Amino acid sequence: MSVLTTTARGPAATDLAYQQCINQACAATFAVGETHFACPNCGDLLDVAYDWDRLPVPRSLRAFEAKWADRLDPLNFSGVWRFRDLLPFAPPESVVTIGEGQTLLQTADKVGQYVGMNAGRLKLQYEGMNPSGSFKDNGMTAAFTHARMVNAQRVACASTGNTSAALAVYCSATPFGFKAIIFIGSGKIAYGKLAQALDHGALTVQIVGDFDDAMQRVRQVADRLGIYLMNSVNPFRLEGQKTIMYRVLEAMAWEPPDWVVVPGGNLGNSSAFGKAFIELKQLGLIDRVPRLAVINAAGARTLDALVEGQGLRWNDGAPDASLTDAYYARLDAEKVKASTIASAIEINRPVNLKKCLRALAFCDGVVRQVSDQEIMDAKARVGSGGLGCEPASAASVAGAKRLREEGVIAPSDRVVCILTGHQLKDPTATVAYHGTDQDNFDKVLGSRGVRRAGFANRPVVVANDLDDIIRTIALYSESASGAAES
Ligand code: F0G
Repeated sequence: MSVLTTTARGPAATDLAYQQCINQACAATFAVGETHFACPNCGDLLDVAYDWDRLPVPRSLRAFEAKWADRLDPLNFSGVWRFRDLLPFAPPESVVTIGEGQTLLQTADKVGQYVGMNAGRLKLQYEGMNPSGSFKDNGMTAAFTHARMVNAQRVACASTGNTSAALAVYCSATPFGFKAIIFIGSGKIAYGKLAQALDHGALTVQIVGDFDDAMQRVRQVADRLGIYLMNSVNPFRLEGQKTIMYRVLEAMAWEPPDWVVVPGGNLGNSSAFGKAFIELKQLGLIDRVPRLAVINAAGARTLDALVEGQGLRWNDGAPDASLTDAYYARLDAEKVKASTIASAIEINRPVNLKKCLRALAFCDGVVRQVSDQEIMDAKARVGSGGLGCEPASAASVAGAKRLREEGVIAPSDRVVCILTGHQLKDPTATVAYHGTDQDNFDKVLGSRGVRRAGFANRPVVVANDLDDIIRTIALYSESASGAAES
């Protein structure tokens, strides 16, 4: 029984794990040992599907707790592979792991107050704690495992920075001879991420263009040269990213939250979360599904425009393609390019749009867009009330605040915002917000429509003089304690 589509066609349909086209009119299946980044029959996206009736599925999520006792086994140590029973496509000896997924769900009351939540109700899931500093490692470990299963050596991706950083780390930190080739839009990725790609030795191809251009090219190059593609059109990536939700459940003693709020770029995460919940529900491992909120940046709002603006829906696997086609044709005709300070989600043509629609349908989801001002303010609040994040991640907190203000989220709801990337990924945006250099603020943030840095923590410039320094600290301490009391 596959829980995602009713019919499975083709020779692989009798395998325990197989790949399946999400287009229900096609539903073609392919063996796990094949490599496809789109359905060879109809070009649609592929899922990894399982015959759960013949697989050993745990009776309760509690069963996973047994793995906590055995952290010397790399598969049990990994925050992805300790849930391998829920992504059983790989023999254990093929697994490529660098210890990903040691992440944290933090109750963040100061941030919760900003969002408008009751105490104890807002939680932040810190995926920036992964080895490469973003949630991408969850997907990479699964996709590299598949690459190993099919003996791929050269691996490529287009990226707004984090996918490329993760890909570069998995190549440099594992002994299997993988060679990284990454495509980025020139000037389009934050310095922390570019630094990672260079430091880890990836062949870094900067294309004159943006992410959407780089994505198109990497698909052509992968096709022409037979290179293994690591973007989230690769269905194995999303299998790994399902585990972010398993860890959220684990941290909440297996009790689903009311809301999961996630930034939306290429829509891999939201798609993976939806698939995780579809499977958990149908396997009887949860009885209630959280609602999903996917948050676009206003300057890259394709999902919001189509879903909230034009009513695009999953529609039992047959979304109205004419809406999407017309939207993209208008972007082309008007030469609209994605533009946001949250460079990680500066994407106008999300490759997983259709799977995200499925997730929204199953999880009674909503979509919102937030401005760069809201993103930068939320980011500053996450920094002052938590462990910090990069701009794209803060879209989730800004989106939760928006939904709270609208009354869609209630103050007593249990809300989990996914913080997708580490604070140090994009120091340029952070320093421009908090700094005192007006020219830098105007260049980095003003150009994006950010007008104020209302939550800035300004550095204090003092002469190199002991008395001056002591006076400044006294002054600053008074105003800081005054601010804390107000
Ligand atoms: N947050 C961060 C920090 C990201 O890097 C990305 C995507 C997203 C959110 C959006 O996630 O694509 O699953 O909707 N970054 C990709 C990259 C596109 O190339 O690093 P999504």
